[in-house]
Amino acid sequence: MRNRPSSRTPSKTTAYRRFHPGTQPAYNYPPYASTQKRCPTQPLVIAPQTLSEITGPVFGWDDVKPGDHDLTRQHRGEPIGERIVVTGRVLDENGRAVPNTLVEVWQANAAGRYPHRTDQHNAPIDPNFSGAGRTCTDAEGRYRFVTIRPGEYPWRNHYNAWRPAHIHFSLFGQAFLTRMVTQMYFPGDPLLPYDPMFTCIENEAARNRLVSVFDWESTIPEQALGYRFDIVLRGAEETPLEKMP
Ligand SMILES: [Fe+2]
Repeated sequence: MRNRPSSRTPSKTTAYRRFHPGTQPAYNYPPYASTQKRCPTQPLVIAPQTLSEITGPVFGWDDVKPGDHDLTRQHRGEPIGERIVVTGRVLDENGRAVPNTLVEVWQANAAGRYPHRTDQHNAPIDPNFSGAGRTCTDAEGRYRFVTIRPGEYPWRNHYNAWRPAHIHFSLFGQAFLTRMVTQMYFPGDPLLPYDPMFTCIENEAARNRLVSVFDWESTIPEQALGYRFDIVLRGAEETPLEKMP
């Protein structure tokens, strides 16, 4: 991490706009069982935004190695599964590109299994797939990952609970208040209407901002299908945050 005087640092601080109601996950959403154990029981206190919230230290290229964006080339062999390309732009609340910002992803393998000791799903671990990658956006705010399509997996939130295929994203943006952890879904996934992590976002348009679109332009012939997922860090068009279990 480094302290970087951002070229976007305003001479006078301008607060980020507040979310529109219903465009972020509900704090207490009974179908998503664990929200009831951790949701706030008191009204939130709105903290004033000062220079330290609107600017600050950021992660960047110093932390990223060449090839970190390609999750299919991190081991001796290739992972099992359908290769995909995931691209998109990172934008601020005014629709401006956010350049040189760290984007990190993590995901299950093609069988729906994470190589983590707490993942006890009875599905095979792929020795050629760790499921984590990172990159930085370019001058136009674009990022690109090569990976495999993640599998769906059961998660025991309720009877017969299955997560839709998804890729976790973490972004930092220009300051800590723009930090975002969210999930990208795939178009047409039949599990989406049954997933409380998805349905806990009341506003339909906001919810659907979590669904990537098939992208012919980034599809590589005979190699990988492309999906586009644009991410907005703050404001009315903000990508909804992930509701952590
Ligand atoms: Fe997951």
